[in-house]
Amino acid sequence: MTPDFWIERWQKGEIGFHQASGNDLLPAHWPVLGSAPDSTILVPLCGKSLDMAWLAAQSHRVVGVELSPLAVDDFFREQGVEAETRTVGPFMVRTAGPITIWCGDIFDLPGEAVKDVAAVYDRAALVAFPSRLQTRYAKTLETLVPSAPVLLISLSYPDGQIAGPPFSTPLMQVTELFGARYNIGICETRDGLAQSPNLRERGVTALDEAVYVLRPKIT
Ligand SMILES: C[S@@+](CC[C@H](N)C(=O)[O-])C[C@H]1O[C@@H](n2cnc3c(N)ncnc32)[C@H](O)[C@@H]1O
Repeated sequence: MTPDFWIERWQKGEIGFHQASGNDLLPAHWPVLGSAPDSTILVPLCGKSLDMAWLAAQSHRVVGVELSPLAVDDFFREQGVEAETRTVGPFMVRTAGPITIWCGDIFDLPGEAVKDVAAVYDRAALVAFPSRLQTRYAKTLETLVPSAPVLLISLSYPDGQIAGPPFSTPLMQVTELFGARYNIGICETRDGLAQSPNLRERGVTALDEAVYVLRPKIT
């Protein structure tokens, strides 16, 4: 999965993963992390997710990371706010109010972007990567924000039913990726097929959605 793949998807408007009303599992499970209202939340691979606005409405500061400048432009335009722009190395960094989005590759993200981060919200980030990059992504989170708990929304479907993304990522894989460094709790599992018309149309016949809380073993 190269950066160009995602840049082109945004250019062609092929963003079936985007949820027009945000993700309902976030408000249901966010309190489990116990994040202080003024704390900073990292949203990796944020797209133009309205979940960032929801987190900001809970009085959090939000740091998003997203490859596509179109996604970042859309987010701020749809929020009806003007974002200030600066450049940090290969990143265009755009800020409006409590929300800052670092536009570039998460694997190049500098430590200064995440210095205040207290927790991570991952919806459709881990599952956007194939297996090899999932390993790299897990290590990147562990390195960048070693003491931050993670609310992770993952999904799984029958093996080989579609070519990802999203890549089926069941509990066993979440455990392989994160189990050495985090205690893994399951907050909820549910049948997600009804809420995923995009995946139904692509041929997925069974879809499990799961919400995990990952708590670092050493803080
Ligand atoms: C499946 S979408 C999920 C977007 C968002 N989390 C949501 O819930 O709508 C994955 C997003 O990650 C972005 N992306 C993919 N690889 C990336 C990378 N290496 N660094 C930063 N963003 C990336 C893509 O452009 C895309 O917007």
